[in-house]
Amino acid sequence: METQARHLHVEIGMGRGAFLAEFAKAHPKDLCIGIERASAWFKYAQEHIVALGLSNVELLNIPAEDFLTQQTTKPCVSNYFVLFPDPWPKKDQRRRRVLCPRNIKRFWHTLLPHGQVTFATDHLDYFKAIEKLMATEFPLSFTREQLSALPFKTHYQQKYERQGRPLYFVRWTKTAFPPGLIRSNPIDLAFAKSISAH
Ligand SMILES: C[S@@+](CC[C@H](N)C(=O)[O-])C[C@H]1O[C@@H](n2cnc3c(N)ncnc32)[C@H](O)[C@@H]1O
Repeated sequence: METQARHLHVEIGMGRGAFLAEFAKAHPKDLCIGIERASAWFKYAQEHIVALGLSNVELLNIPAEDFLTQQTTKPCVSNYFVLFPDPWPKKDQRRRRVLCPRNIKRFWHTLLPHGQVTFATDHLDYFKAIEKLMATEFPLSFTREQLSALPFKTHYQQKYERQGRPLYFVRWTKTAFPPGLIRSNPIDLAFAKSISAH
């Protein structure tokens, strides 16, 4: 790109790339990175992006964890999108979820101040589990905002809407408190609020 991108947006597990393509079209001055570890979906998304002639998109055929640990070492990301990730519903599978404490910490460290993480799912148990995780493990690291929709739809969202499934959307915005510094202990919370007041 000739000019420097204003913002960096990252979609994790972009699948066929439907959301990323529309988002990139709407934000031509920003850089949009799509990460997809499955080669078949990566190629599909790549062809879609090339066909649309979008020059502000980079696609990476790697696990999100590689990007979060190796490619982003400083706060540089404005938005992470985690849209309809695999819910891994069984108890022994849950450690495979993209939204896990380790990755959420990495999000926090690589987000710019006030950067955001947007999550969408059709899976109520996953949604509730992540809401609880954010409230208990990261109570002051992010503020929460319920969303009723996203500006563009992923392939899975379109499919789930045709099936009439309820969908859940939420967005968290990074605050100044590093993850894990303060847990949801009421005494710690009072202490943290007293610090932030100064
Ligand atoms: C259920 S699909 C949803 C695809 C797309 N977001 C949509 O809504 O249409 C989840 C996608 O995330 C990818 N994925 C899962 N874990 C990943 C990880 N750790 N890193 C990168 N991609 C991942 C999968 O390969 C799959 O394509």
